[in-house]
Amino acid sequence: MTKQEIKQRIEKLKKEINHHRYLYHVLDKQEISDAALDSLKHELYTLEQKNPEFITKDSPTQRVGGKPLSKFKKVHHKVRMLSLEDVFSVGEFEDWETRIKKFYPSGKYEYFGELKIDGFAISLTYENGFLKTAATRGDGMVGEDVTQNIKTIESIPLKLNIHSETKINKNKNIKKYKSNVEKIIEKGTLEVRGEIYMSKKVFLEINKERKKRGEALYANPRNTAAGSVRQLDSKIAASRKLEFLAYSLVTDFGQKEHKDEHDILSVLGFKTDKDAGVFVSVKEIEKFWEDVMKKRDKLACQIDGLVISVNDNATFKKLGVVGKAPRGAVAFKFPAEEATTKVKDIVVRVGRTGALTPVAHLDTVSIGGTNVTRASLHNEDEIRRLGLKIGDTVLVQRAGDVIPKVIKVFKKLRTGNEKVFKMPKKCPICGGPIEKKDGGVVQKCINKKCSAKNKEALHHFTSKKAFDISGLGPKILDKLSDEGLISDVADIFSLEEGDLILVERFAERSASNLVEAIKDKKEITLGRFIYSLGILHIGEETSIDLAKYFTKKGKIESPMDFFNIAKKENVESLLKISDIGPKVAESIVSYFSDGHNASLLQKLDDVGIIIKSPKVSLQKQIFKDKIFILTGELKHFTRDEAKEKIRNLGGNVSSSVSKKTDFVLIGKNPGSKFKKAKNLGVKVISEIEFLKMLK
Ligand code: IVH
Repeated sequence: MTKQEIKQRIEKLKKEINHHRYLYHVLDKQEISDAALDSLKHELYTLEQKNPEFITKDSPTQRVGGKPLSKFKKVHHKVRMLSLEDVFSVGEFEDWETRIKKFYPSGKYEYFGELKIDGFAISLTYENGFLKTAATRGDGMVGEDVTQNIKTIESIPLKLNIHSETKINKNKNIKKYKSNVEKIIEKGTLEVRGEIYMSKKVFLEINKERKKRGEALYANPRNTAAGSVRQLDSKIAASRKLEFLAYSLVTDFGQKEHKDEHDILSVLGFKTDKDAGVFVSVKEIEKFWEDVMKKRDKLACQIDGLVISVNDNATFKKLGVVGKAPRGAVAFKFPAEEATTKVKDIVVRVGRTGALTPVAHLDTVSIGGTNVTRASLHNEDEIRRLGLKIGDTVLVQRAGDVIPKVIKVFKKLRTGNEKVFKMPKKCPICGGPIEKKDGGVVQKCINKKCSAKNKEALHHFTSKKAFDISGLGPKILDKLSDEGLISDVADIFSLEEGDLILVERFAERSASNLVEAIKDKKEITLGRFIYSLGILHIGEETSIDLAKYFTKKGKIESPMDFFNIAKKENVESLLKISDIGPKVAESIVSYFSDGHNASLLQKLDDVGIIIKSPKVSLQKQIFKDKIFILTGELKHFTRDEAKEKIRNLGGNVSSSVSKKTDFVLIGKNPGSKFKKAKNLGVKVISEIEFLKMLK
């Protein structure tokens, strides 16, 4: 860019940022996300740093916040409330260190690292030990007096005490400050700063209630917390279960290090960051950054990075302030939890309760380091509120274990080819009637059997004898289906790591393991595949018989190969297969003539299911075409192991004894099959005899 172009870019950025700041801080409105605004601010800051001649007094980088709202009393901060410069990568972080060391080479460079809570700053002033005022940051010089609301937060002490004499006496480092602290609690002013925030759990609970009542959902915990504190009615703030974490002690007790401030705060009864600590090098901080990023989703509150400060207060002071931020501290941010992508389709899911939930299928997008493919749209009203059409470019937010959601539509980026979405008039699963429930927002399929059937189908599909996806147990499947992330079995194969992390307590590691495990299970034998479809009356044995039969009819390598062969069958042709009676034959024919099943098989084909031939055993086929029946408890094998052995050696396992049966293998406490075998004169063998045969 030429100097002229840079100047123009700076002007445009300032105008844009100011517009959004005014909306947000003065009018309590928000048009674009914080992450989006942060990116703009970061670009402006970087351009200004490289071209200081273009820095003007009115630049957003030169001040903090907007005008305070008039509805609260104003509070003048005795010490200006500063902000922090952001860095977004290891490289930028290392540049920061190089810069400060160059600025003040004789400093002591050890760092204090702590979590950067995604809430909002508050300054608490105590007089003679009692909480006097709580003020928001406002423009850094003048904030709003929100004392009444802040007093409702239990993690904020209303009166200061030295909380545990033993602790302060044991901690040599802060013992030296004890008499000073005592004096100020007795008589004097003490100022503490920290972050007000709302835990993810409380935020989810509030939104769940709002959803039930058909009210618009809150966007994120931070805005909800800020909104709660800016309520004129302190009862509302009280009901919101807000929290406070202290991170700096403004009052001078002669503290030498930033660490001392944390220790003193904790002794005074404030909650401080348990993960915080002193790091001797930039390399150590980088490791801390990576470790915290990994466990970020599991933390109780949202964090957007780390705050790294020079630990030695004398050095910190020497480094001074540049613009709005101290040079000696920096916000080492994590990748944003928002990204833009396109909505490929809107699919309606039927959850376990029968509720119809529209879900956006997205062009896969990486958010905060993991891939996301779906986003919740909650209900039809939400789609209307967003003004969303299929094909739109949208902003998707993924925050911790909150399901990703579409939070904005970029209408100006439309091409004209976008399609309007309409909710179906009938249940997309069973074709049954739909009713509006819960105040008319949630639409439900009232056919109870429908959702239950769908749930069972999911459980059956992943079970041991079917696709055998062990990490995907019933609980997780239910949750995924409740959240609208999957509605049919094929959906399982297009899940991405970022979709799974949303399921409660799903750690990032196990999410990526599960995605891998699901991918590994895309290859399946035809017998298992048939069984997994859950066709009425088709159990494991029949599935294997059918697989053998169909394999002879043509090459089957995919679900559609199978479908094309199977749909040609009729009841008469199927009855020729041994062990298949009219009930089973009719069930198969009806399954393949149902359009829903045809599209499910097509979908399974599309997600890449491969049908492979069963492993051919190298052992001699000593049981070739022999039919076995198993009854009673076996000692040396599980039933499945015994069955596998028989099949590997060329035999078949059937479920009912007939004259065609060759062997009935009996264990302890055999059932009626044993009796029947004796009556029919079928050969009965014990487990020992079976073992001998195997040898
Ligand atoms: S220290 C000079 N420590 O991040 C400002 N800030 O842009 C010193 N924040 O306004 C702030 N967690 O609202 C500090 N552990 C932490 C923090 C933290 C969150 C917020 C705070 C501040 C903003 C910095």
